[in-house]
Amino acid sequence: MPPFKLLLLPGDGIGPEVMAEVRRLIAHLEQKKLAAFAFEEGLVGGCAYDAHGMAITEETMQKAHAADAVIFGAVGGPKWDKVPYDVRPEAGLLRLRKELGLFANLRPAVCYPALADASSLKRELVDGLDIMILRELTGGVYFGEPKTITDLGNGQKRAIDTQVYDTYEIERISRVAFELAKKRRNKVTSMEKRNVMKTGVLWHEVIEAVHAREFPEVTLEHMLADAGGMQLVRNPKQFDVIVTDNLFGDMLSDVAAMMTGSLGMLPSASLGEVDAKTKKRKALYEPVHGSAPDIAGQGKANPIAMLASFGMALRYSFNMGPVADALDAAIARVLARGLRTADIATVGGKAVSTEEMGKAVVGEM
Ligand code: IPM
Ligand code: MG
Repeated sequence: MPPFKLLLLPGDGIGPEVMAEVRRLIAHLEQKKLAAFAFEEGLVGGCAYDAHGMAITEETMQKAHAADAVIFGAVGGPKWDKVPYDVRPEAGLLRLRKELGLFANLRPAVCYPALADASSLKRELVDGLDIMILRELTGGVYFGEPKTITDLGNGQKRAIDTQVYDTYEIERISRVAFELAKKRRNKVTSMEKRNVMKTGVLWHEVIEAVHAREFPEVTLEHMLADAGGMQLVRNPKQFDVIVTDNLFGDMLSDVAAMMTGSLGMLPSASLGEVDAKTKKRKALYEPVHGSAPDIAGQGKANPIAMLASFGMALRYSFNMGPVADALDAAIARVLARGLRTADIATVGGKAVSTEEMGKAVVGEM
């Protein structure tokens, strides 16, 4: 079998540190002859700006198009606060999402029993939690035009962002939601603001139609996104798959992350449409945490979200579900043994380094 083609984009801040643990995992999988990978590396975000004056180069974009999967660390940091908007670090990530057509962003929030006390919610609310936030990733207010700040000439400025969704965008994300639910607990909760937003009205209407037409056997419920946010912290285990737009999904997934104990625990997969001919889909895997500039370079970062993101690549891009399961089980065992990076350590408890955590997980495998 030809090797899987990976593009590694460590990015900024803690990105390179957590990516080093992915390399360790890759080396292990190759050594065990479980898979063969061919990987290239590239710059994205602030480091790309420093080297090339832009958040991602054309050449790196080409490599991303050619890869079976892009493995992404994190971008951004205070160092680049003043760079022009179009070349800010985040622009590199947004361009990858948009140009690769990665409309479906899967953010599973799983609370390992050993971590239930690290959550900001009570143990009984989060222990055993396993929900999937499905965020629409290439539309909505992130990409809608116009997106401008205009000087009105009277000492005032006007800023405009545009929230826009077409039927097909809502149809394809809702299909992903229903398909996911069928393999889980068969329930989809759709969140929008149809009481205020036209996009919410259409979102609701289209999901209802797809449900009735194609997935009547799946349970579908709707929540206004604000009430959904409240329910998420009140009783998170009521959910199975939550499907929502780009902006609400950004917010709700950060909220969900805290239930798992730490933002350092949440992986994600961003998937494109399955190509009818090749049966392949473009994909990018990234931890939900950002670049954490405050702890960058100190070996303190939690590599679990990054490792689990690679696990999602094994599952969704390389059809290696059993190996992904083994990785998840290894993470659970390491946590059960009491190993903690600083973000999930108990007060006064000992914290291990990024490298120690990575070695322990790979060792458990
Ligand atoms: C995320 C991040 C990004 C987003 C930033 C870095 C642009 O917060 O992936 O959740 O807003 O989508
Ligand atoms: Mg976010």
